[in-house]
Amino acid sequence: MARIFIVGVTGGVGSRLAPKLIAAGHQVSGLYRQPNQKAALQDAGITPYLADLMNTTTQDLIDVTQGHDIIIFSAGAAGSGLDRTTTIDYETPVKLIEAAQANGISRMYMVSAFMDSLRGSPHKEAFEHYMKMKRQADNALVASSLDWVIVRPGTLVTDDGDGLVHLDRAIPYGTVARGNVAGVLAKLIDTPSITKEIFELCDGSTPIDQAVEALIR
Ligand SMILES: NC(=O)c1ccc[n+]([C@@H]2O[C@H](COP(=O)([O-])OP(=O)(O)OC[C@H]3O[C@@H](n4cnc5c(N)ncnc54)[C@H](OP(=O)(O)O)[C@@H]3O)[C@@H](O)[C@H]2O)c1
Repeated sequence: MARIFIVGVTGGVGSRLAPKLIAAGHQVSGLYRQPNQKAALQDAGITPYLADLMNTTTQDLIDVTQGHDIIIFSAGAAGSGLDRTTTIDYETPVKLIEAAQANGISRMYMVSAFMDSLRGSPHKEAFEHYMKMKRQADNALVASSLDWVIVRPGTLVTDDGDGLVHLDRAIPYGTVARGNVAGVLAKLIDTPSITKEIFELCDGSTPIDQAVEALIR
């Protein structure tokens, strides 16, 4: 059993991940920013912490992540503006890395983005900025002293998924169900021998357990 802190627990991936972790016997906590989200989190067995990432300091994150074993980052500004993207998609992971180090939390999992996403589409400043921030967050995590795993999903689809994926260190770009991303994260968390790895993820034809186990070196 691990004590797991999810940033983005109310999101499309995070809300599908938390029940899988709880079913696997873990304790799950997470951030929420809207007061009306608290009861649903508690009802789901998740310990809720109120915070708006736009105003959250490293010290705030040290305080809320204290006592946990693993941090998962699955939040996102979702195209709500360049400044918000910088703060949520880049600065927040950096603050979380600092919080993890301050609290002696050794493991962090990052939901990043597929670097081939939307290549060939017309250049859009907000999207290019988003990809740059995701890349810089990955860079910070890789440079840290933590045990990390970075998952780079293709374009997300709001669906629980069929549990069949294509997961490897380099794969062709495609789409992936948010539930399949959650399933892969849950399996990775229960496979701690996989560490310091970057994986690309799309929907595919391999059951999640098999896909993750094939990546053990
Ligand atoms: N969209 C794509 O196609 C795509 C592709 C690859 C990777 N990704 C990445 O995949 C990850 C998960 O995506 P998703 O679809 O699950 O995201 P999502 O449904 O948009 O959820 C985003 C999460 O971040 C939280 N959040 C946003 N702003 C916040 C703030 N100011 N303070 C506190 N929490 C805040 C949201 O809280 P609320 O519930 O309050 O909104 C929610 O929990 C993200 O890191 C995203 O960048 C996305």
